Amino acid sequence: MAGRIGSRAASVGIALVGTGFMGRAHANAWRQAPCFFDLARRPQLAVVAGRRGPVTRAFAQRWQVARSLTDWTAAVRDPAVHLVDVLTPNHLHAPVAVAALRAGKHVACEKPLAGTLDDARVMRDAAGKAKGRTFVWFNYRRCPAVGLMRQLVHEGRLGEIRQVRARYLQDWGGAATPMAWRFDAKLAGSGAHGDLNAHLVDLVRFTTGLEIDEVCGAIEATFVGRRRSARGRQASTVDDAMLFLARLANGATASFEASRVATGNQNANGVELNGTKGSVRFDFERMNELEWWDHTLPARLRGWSRIMCTDASHPWVGAYWPAAHLIGYEHGFISMAADIVRVITGQKPLLPLPDFQDAFRTQCVLEAATRSARTGGWVRPDSLA
Ligand SMILES: NC(=O)c1ccc[n+]([C@@H]2O[C@H](COP(=O)([O-])OP(=O)(O)OC[C@H]3O[C@@H](n4cnc5c(N)ncnc54)[C@H](O)[C@@H]3O)[C@@H](O)[C@H]2O)c1
Repeated sequence: MAGRIGSRAASVGIALVGTGFMGRAHANAWRQAPCFFDLARRPQLAVVAGRRGPVTRAFAQRWQVARSLTDWTAAVRDPAVHLVDVLTPNHLHAPVAVAALRAGKHVACEKPLAGTLDDARVMRDAAGKAKGRTFVWFNYRRCPAVGLMRQLVHEGRLGEIRQVRARYLQDWGGAATPMAWRFDAKLAGSGAHGDLNAHLVDLVRFTTGLEIDEVCGAIEATFVGRRRSARGRQASTVDDAMLFLARLANGATASFEASRVATGNQNANGVELNGTKGSVRFDFERMNELEWWDHTLPARLRGWSRIMCTDASHPWVGAYWPAAHLIGYEHGFISMAADIVRVITGQKPLLPLPDFQDAFRTQCVLEAATRSARTGGWVRPDSLA
């Protein structure tokens, strides 16, 4: 069967399930990856599945996808497909991913792994039994500055990590933004929390290499309770902001803040790590830069230095442009698509990629924060696994 994992096909057939924001980001990434990276097999956009025929057909034409369908179950079974890319609202991640794994495909799924911990557990368990590899699109891991941050920590340049400050701030325009799946807890699971804190928890775990042992002090808030839609006004049932505190495995303290009501912030995804030998900080709104404080320097020379992470020696950058010819949002997805192809062709990714098992740990932290917000107590993510 051409689409099975063991296939010796020269290309990797991709099924995109979803044609929205991420549909575009991923179609672009799969197409661009072999243009920038030397890959053993070339990704081919074999199928796209969407909800509405005309929209899905137009998407297929624009992004040069061979076939368009309105039934994702057919996409998952298609023998030309080796990898199913799940780009739907969160409630569909589990059914699509599990069906794809059972059909013998590799699966790359958008974050959060799922809207609920129960769905995430089903996905983790299915991945454990499957032949296919799994991946979760925590794309910010593929920012060169974030890769450098991880390298500095792992080289010991920050010493012992003592404090972590993570915040992902957006401004969604309050009640002016109409109803969408993202505001419906049945479809999304949660609001800013699953959407934005998922990235932060992953970034902290990835850059520090430390698990989150305990969570407390969580607070969630919904400021816009109803939103206009074609069917009149509908209840918005998710959080608009969610903050929590945590202790990492080495005893370091951490704070997390996710918001869709942080007026003036558009995509301020930022992490700061403070260690005994130095600190680093990153903000996606200046994604080509990493700030570094080297505390091993004499006091009179200490100061924040701004590293332009555009040198060929920075992770993934050598595949793109000369120094200081900046890269953008889409490059994280392109680099990740390339690393996924590397893994399924038996090579190593440049830096670790998250799989379902890894993303499940992040999901346990998110759930621990939700429980802390509702009970006011301490929750250990491990106890939920
Ligand atoms: N990695 C990131 O930074 C990032 C950014 C945005 C969104 N996301 C994630 O990506 C996923 C999709 O988000 P989005 O912003 O692209 O949403 P979107 O609303 O723009 O697109 C969702 C797509 O899913 C399709 N869909 C819904 N039901 C379907 C069905 N039954 N069959 C086939 N297709 C169906 C819709 O038609 C639409 O094309 C979510 O899980 C979200 O959390 C991740």
